[in-house]
Amino acid sequence: MSQNTVATDCLNVREYEARAKTNLAEMAYDYYAGGSWDEITLRENCTAFERLAIMPHMLVDLTEFDMSTEILGEKISMPIIIAPTAFHGLATPEGEKATARAAYRAQTIMTLSTLANFSIEEVQAAAPGPKWFQLYVYKDREVTKDLVQRAEAEGYKALVLTVDSPLLGRREKDVRNRFRLPDNCQLGHFVGGKLANLPKDVEDSGLAHYIASLYDVSLSWKHVEWLSEITKLPILLKGILRADDAALGVKNGAAGIIVSNHGGRQLDSAPSTISVLSEIVEAVDDRVPVLIDSGIRRGTDVFKAIALGAKAVLTGRPVLWGLASDGENGAVEVLELLRSELKLTMQLSGCPKLKSITPDMVRQKKPFWALAKD
Ligand SMILES: Cc1cc2nc3c(=O)[nH]c(=O)nc-3n(C[C@H](O)[C@H](O)[C@H](O)COP(=O)(O)O)c2cc1C
Repeated sequence: MSQNTVATDCLNVREYEARAKTNLAEMAYDYYAGGSWDEITLRENCTAFERLAIMPHMLVDLTEFDMSTEILGEKISMPIIIAPTAFHGLATPEGEKATARAAYRAQTIMTLSTLANFSIEEVQAAAPGPKWFQLYVYKDREVTKDLVQRAEAEGYKALVLTVDSPLLGRREKDVRNRFRLPDNCQLGHFVGGKLANLPKDVEDSGLAHYIASLYDVSLSWKHVEWLSEITKLPILLKGILRADDAALGVKNGAAGIIVSNHGGRQLDSAPSTISVLSEIVEAVDDRVPVLIDSGIRRGTDVFKAIALGAKAVLTGRPVLWGLASDGENGAVEVLELLRSELKLTMQLSGCPKLKSITPDMVRQKKPFWALAKD
């Protein structure tokens, strides 16, 4: 178990967000925090967790406590993994190198984005510890292949293929701000090449423009097959929201399913992830691990996800708030905060191990009008 301590000035993820907001340029904060269109899914991700109650056991001996787990053969200290998020250089000058060090200190996995500000090689050199590489598929197959081969050569342990983003969801804050990167930030994997910069002179989000011109809108199961031919790395599919797609994913050789709606940034009105987790877990039927992200802000949320069958969760914005608050140390603090909250939740629920967290420990709260009918 990690020896890191939790800072006392920010008590929870929301307070880290508030601190990050004061440190970040408005364009960067809006990019990190925002969702697509009316942000219905963004809000629903969090409120759906609130609608679940935890049904605790009492009088359970908690002396022997363990929340470590193993995913795709990798032992990690807690069921909380760093989700791939773009452009950590907007939060801290050390960017994804700081995140890699934080992941190592917290003894968990970092997932590096295709849209990172530091390269696959720089991030691997920054810290030991298991890393996954998140892949966006470029129209130019050679570009995609090169990314995969570099990640494999550098010892990344898995590919996370994001399947919910053939185009970017319309994030109106970024359109209004004409989101672009500051001059000191580039796309780290492509420095020196023509894919290293977002356009600066478009009447739109520069990122939306970049993606629309370069990503492969024909992305389909054919690409999953192609990827498994060019790499030995296990492939996790990120962005699955339906049981039938999850089952197809397993049939097509996926090593894991990540239930995600991209933190409410892609299709607005997509369901909250926690509301579809159980049906996906049932369809996957223990053949591969099912993970979840989107809206996790408390240890209680992690507990609820584990109860409904997730092997682990990924956390996106909370790590960004930590990075923007205090770089690598801030990211460690946020990870330790989530760890300590999960630990206390497990202890107060009579769960000394992750295996003790069973589906019956979570119950949908009834709306008041349904209670009145009882
Ligand atoms: C600022 C930001 C950038 C993101 N960039 C990526 C990305 O490059 N690739 C990807 O697969 N997902 C990306 N995501 C989605 C995250 O991996 C994850 O699904 C989401 O953040 C989970 O929701 P949460 O922020 O509520 O934890 C991004 C999310 C945010 C907030």
